[in-house]
Amino acid sequence: MSKAHFGLIGLGVMGENLVLNAERNGFSSVVYNRTFSKTEAFLHSRGSGRAITGAKDLRDFVDQLERPRRILMMVKAGQPTDAVISQISPFLEEGDLLIDGGNSLFTDTERRVAELEKKSFGYIGMGVSGGAKGALEGPSMMPGGTKTSYKAIEPLLRKMAAQVEDGPCVTYIGPGGSGHFVKTVHNGIEYGIEQILAESYDLMKRVCGMQSEEIADVMAYWNGTEELGSYLVEITEACMRVKDPLDSTHVVEKIMDKAGQKGTGLWTVISALELGASVPTIYASLNARVMSSMKTQRIQAESILKKIDIKHLDFGNTSDGMKPLMDAVVLATIASYAQGMELMRRASSEYNYKLHMPSIAQIWKGGCIIRSSLLRRIQDAYNLDPQLSNLLIDPWFAEQVIRRLPGLAKVVSGAAQVGVPVPCLSSTLDYINSYRTARLPQNLVQAMRDCFGSHTYERVDKEGVFHTEWI
Ligand code: 3PG
Repeated sequence: MSKAHFGLIGLGVMGENLVLNAERNGFSSVVYNRTFSKTEAFLHSRGSGRAITGAKDLRDFVDQLERPRRILMMVKAGQPTDAVISQISPFLEEGDLLIDGGNSLFTDTERRVAELEKKSFGYIGMGVSGGAKGALEGPSMMPGGTKTSYKAIEPLLRKMAAQVEDGPCVTYIGPGGSGHFVKTVHNGIEYGIEQILAESYDLMKRVCGMQSEEIADVMAYWNGTEELGSYLVEITEACMRVKDPLDSTHVVEKIMDKAGQKGTGLWTVISALELGASVPTIYASLNARVMSSMKTQRIQAESILKKIDIKHLDFGNTSDGMKPLMDAVVLATIASYAQGMELMRRASSEYNYKLHMPSIAQIWKGGCIIRSSLLRRIQDAYNLDPQLSNLLIDPWFAEQVIRRLPGLAKVVSGAAQVGVPVPCLSSTLDYINSYRTARLPQNLVQAMRDCFGSHTYERVDKEGVFHTEWI
């Protein structure tokens, strides 16, 4: 019997769709799942009539694969991934390649790459984005590890990936855990954009008094523009329109206002703090999820701290996309990308990842959750200046900032006046205003630090380190 080209461990939603994608692209596959009943169910349903076989145990799984073996693990991040690696390792041979396609913490991937490469196995930590549909039809993939390991899987990945005008949405990201790091930052940006759209929905609904269908129409308008055309705006429109068949009310209004998270947004913020990158919009989106989960406390606080009596405000006409609100959403979205790119730039030099920014923008243009028309502009910006320190100062983005800042300020100050929280929009305003201020008031912070702790300070008028007896 001829051996299979490709192996998959873990028949969750992503795993199932990825193996179907591989098989459709001409790679016969073998699948293994911890519970064999799941494997059988898959082979009798979506997997039937295809060049896909199942394995009852890991020895059988490995035996069914051609050498060098290419094995994609789609299992839970953390301990379950380590468990699979240690269970399969005894059956692997020199040159075999393990690919972790889960959302692993990039430092775990660093460790695993080092350990596995020592045993002469290849190891790739690969971020995969696109959800179930993307996994089946073409995701964006962010593989990191050694280049030789990547080369062994490159033909398969290039076929499986989403295709955009300038190629497939996959590229070699860099060494060690860089693939998972880039996926983590991708998710941080995703958190930011999701929250920005949630804030705009809240404003349209509570401050502008709009109905779900009108809000959906604005989303449709935004999705038709270069600045906001994106998968996330597209699905926001869809989410706004769906009605409960039982009573014809909009389902979104029945959803509990507590957002969950699986960790990548948190890791983005932790990394940013560690690397000294400023990511306030992304942080605000993470904190908004934390705040949302405090439902019981918020109910109590609403009665103690006086329920907000919303006054109506005008944020423009729906027919032209509610101009000031669109300005605010565009700038906050740009800020999310800018902050994510800045974080990657810092990580690249700190961890020696040698990240190629235009390529990262290129592979995010299709397949992934944050795909958007802005990514072409981001790609252009980094092609124009590979050392660009911040997207905001690229000529095209700078023009957006200058033109749209009054709209953002109007929306944030309006929201503040009526008491509606807009954490991502307001942190974006402060982020931009701070970034475009050559002299910030941290001279006074330095004075205080020197006053109570003799921490010393630098001066703007002469070189050196200074201390003053302040009191
Ligand atoms: C994922 O990677 O599963 C999602 O894109 C992000 O998940 P979260 O919002 O549950 O953290």
